[in-house]
Amino acid sequence: MKNQKLVVLTGAGISAESGLKTFRDSDGLWEGYNIEEVATPEAWHKNPSLVQQFYNERRKAVLEAEPNKAHVLLAELEEQFNVHIITQNIDNLHERAGSNNILHLHGEIVKSRSTFNSDDIYPIKGWELKMGDLCNAGYQLRPHIVWFGESVPLIEPAKEIVSDADIFVIIGTSLQVYPAAGLINYTKPKIPIYVIDPKQIIINNMRFQIIQEKAETGVEQLIKILNSKI
Ligand code: APR
Repeated sequence: MKNQKLVVLTGAGISAESGLKTFRDSDGLWEGYNIEEVATPEAWHKNPSLVQQFYNERRKAVLEAEPNKAHVLLAELEEQFNVHIITQNIDNLHERAGSNNILHLHGEIVKSRSTFNSDDIYPIKGWELKMGDLCNAGYQLRPHIVWFGESVPLIEPAKEIVSDADIFVIIGTSLQVYPAAGLINYTKPKIPIYVIDPKQIIINNMRFQIIQEKAETGVEQLIKILNSKI
């Protein structure tokens, strides 16, 4: 079992039971802001302080949130499987639950990076990143987040991780944002795919097993299914 590679793609839904809002359940507004105002390079160019404020509020919510049972159960699965987590989430709840192999496709809210060199990355102490906080070379620090319209630098390593998965699990994502949503196409053709989401999902493909539950209940059910196959 330990040599079975279990790859999990997570989205905002896995953090919903930790109290962090999803994107598309909040009718297009993200905590009352238009995405274009706060999560694009143009927004940063136009009003960087508003962008900093938006992510500071998000960061505060993340630091006040706790990993839920779904995050914890995924971390515990590492005892039985070679688990790799690919997340679209910018929160650090997978890390805080104890998972090890985590790839953040859309960045990490608890980190900042230089506006001069995107590889120059820093941890953010506390919840606030301010205009005037500079990298070691003296350039302004920005949130280490992939904004809409920016490329997803980690998508190639993510495809690699998915390409030799023995089991693929999708939890709490509407699969509406590419290239993340396209990862499913990089799995080996016959491996089982489990989808955990409380909304009804209809996929006419034998290898998909839908678990129509919220993440905490859904991951519990998934573990029962996986254990029944040992
Ligand atoms: N448990 C599991 N899934 C849930 C729960 C829950 N408690 N509550 C909602 N969901 C599901 C919703 O049904 C939906 O399918 O989680 C999914 C959330 O979808 P989105 O809000 O679109 O979030 P996500 O798929 O992660 O968005 C992808 O889009 O906005 C960008 O960059 C942002 O990473 C984000 C990306």
